[in-house]
Amino acid sequence: MSSSDLGRALCIITGASRGFGRAVAVQLSRLVKPGSVLVLTARSGDDLRALQEELSGSEAGKAGLKAVCVVTDLGQKEGPESIVKAAVEASSEEIEHIILINNAGSLGDVSRFTKDFTTMADVDSYLSFNFSSCLCLTAGILQKFPKRPGLKRTVVNVSSLCALQPFSSWVLYCSGKAARHMMFKVLAQEEPDLRVLNYSPGPLDTAMQEVARSVTGDSGLRKAFSDMFSEGKLLTCEESCAKMMKLLLEDKYTSGDQIDVYDRT
Ligand SMILES: NC(=O)c1ccc[n+]([C@@H]2O[C@H](COP(=O)([O-])OP(=O)(O)OC[C@H]3O[C@@H](n4cnc5c(N)ncnc54)[C@H](OP(=O)(O)O)[C@@H]3O)[C@@H](O)[C@H]2O)c1
Repeated sequence: MSSSDLGRALCIITGASRGFGRAVAVQLSRLVKPGSVLVLTARSGDDLRALQEELSGSEAGKAGLKAVCVVTDLGQKEGPESIVKAAVEASSEEIEHIILINNAGSLGDVSRFTKDFTTMADVDSYLSFNFSSCLCLTAGILQKFPKRPGLKRTVVNVSSLCALQPFSSWVLYCSGKAARHMMFKVLAQEEPDLRVLNYSPGPLDTAMQEVARSVTGDSGLRKAFSDMFSEGKLLTCEESCAKMMKLLLEDKYTSGDQIDVYDRT
């Protein structure tokens, strides 16, 4: 491992079928050494397999990068379990770096305000996917790949400004991101050998942003997202992802800290 590569790695990427997660998979594939494995997961099997094919035809694929797909719903109990199982099966003794990218997420119902959420089942199902699955997947991977000499372990939480700041009508999203943020801060304190990065990717031109600018209940916030889109202020996944890769390569961040795409580092 050097400052120009991430070593022979086992990378697990949730939400790899589209948006930011897909960009992460593509950029990681160029930074890992031959013999590395990418575990790509999401619910959309066709999109994952298209990415798998693209990677196998790439330079990295020809040099020996392997990509496996795990089609699973992280809102279900089996989700994290099936990903951990696939990661164990895909691993080998030569792996020198485990990289878990907790990227999958959803906005939830942003058309409603806090006082509208009277049904516990709605809140539970949002948090099951956006918080519980992330904790259980991370815990499962850490158990199966414990600390050992020669093995580096990195866990990334794809976070948001919403982990730190309230946004009207986004109670589920902000609360879920705040909970994840604290979860990874606790983890960083508990496991000093682990590298834990909370990365806030900025406003990205993805399906999630489309929902944000069309459905957001707070009219001022909805207009702010619309304006960002029409004024060309959204970032591409590729440019934000490049900043995250730089952080991982340089490896100088304080474990547990949240770093925003716009931060000067
Ligand atoms: N877009 C932004 O402006 C922005 C800003 C800050 C932070 N973020 C964060 O960046 C991350 C990626 O966002 P994005 O904009 O790329 O979102 P996106 O385009 O909506 O993609 C979300 C990904 O999560 C997967 N996913 C959704 N529900 C799932 C489920 N139940 N089980 C398993 N996978 C599921 C989706 O795949 P399937 O549908 O195939 O399952 C997809 O690959 C999220 O954590 C988001 O909160 C985004």
